[in-house]
Amino acid sequence: MEFSHLLIEKQDGIAVLTVNSPKTLNALNSRIIADLECALYELELDAEVKVIVLTGAGKAFVAGADIKEMAAMGSTEGHQFGLKGQRMILSMARMETPVIAAVNGFALGGGLELALACDFIYVSDKAKLGFPEVTLGIIPGFGGTQNLARRIGSAKAGELIMTGKMIDAAKAEAWGIANEVFPADELLDKAMATAKQICSVGTLAVSYAKNALIAGLDMTREDGFRYEAALFGVLFGSEDQKEGMNAFVEKRKADFKGQ
Ligand code: CAA
Repeated sequence: MEFSHLLIEKQDGIAVLTVNSPKTLNALNSRIIADLECALYELELDAEVKVIVLTGAGKAFVAGADIKEMAAMGSTEGHQFGLKGQRMILSMARMETPVIAAVNGFALGGGLELALACDFIYVSDKAKLGFPEVTLGIIPGFGGTQNLARRIGSAKAGELIMTGKMIDAAKAEAWGIANEVFPADELLDKAMATAKQICSVGTLAVSYAKNALIAGLDMTREDGFRYEAALFGVLFGSEDQKEGMNAFVEKRKADFKGQ
């Protein structure tokens, strides 16, 4: 399927999904939000795709939800727009395929929420991150208050969300929002190298690991342990577990099939 403001390039098990509306700094309007949800679902169904790298065209990753579209909205439309964005964000957490955010520039508001929905975040040294919503008289609406506080705690999340200030890449890394900072011209290569590494291991195990990590965040520790044990056990019925362990014993490289 073709999407007017998304580019999808597939290579060796990796799909690079680029939000491509650089004139408006890739701002998320209703069309792009719906297309992103649809594109991610298609990539999830594509057996060839083992990892997704999400990035933006031009100088922004995504500069937020589309303020021009939101400006005329009333309460009901605002509520529905928030729910639409949240559905897309939640669908990313439910995906089995890991998603790496390659944050090439501004990741603001809905753009930071999009990055936070990815499994991990690499940022360019040119990136600026923040939640400017309070400067517009609103609050983050695509899960930002919840996901940022879970990631870095309510104090640091509160500082970003209540001031609306932007932070640079180094601070984003120091605060635990970004996994790592790279020079702008190396960012995509670094994200691709990590994606390749994930492709080379047991991808069934990777998707179960993602599932245990994310589902566990909403469980008590004991329930999380029980869930982990169940998934751990299920993997012993997989071909990948036999292949991975036999390859170790036979001192050869494993040839995983993702089954
Ligand atoms: N929505 C709509 N259009 C946007 C946009 C957004 N979020 N961000 C940038 N644009 C547009 C600008 O209006 C401008 O378009 P025109 O040329 O037609 O005027 C174009 O993109 C380029 O932007 P600038 O000229 O402003 O670029 P800059 O380099 O001077 O500034 C910036 C960059 C600091 C990111 C600035 O564009 C900015 O502050 N953008 C808004 C960021 C923001 O507030 N994001 C949060 C949105 S609310 C939200 O996301 C709610 C939620 O939680 C879901």
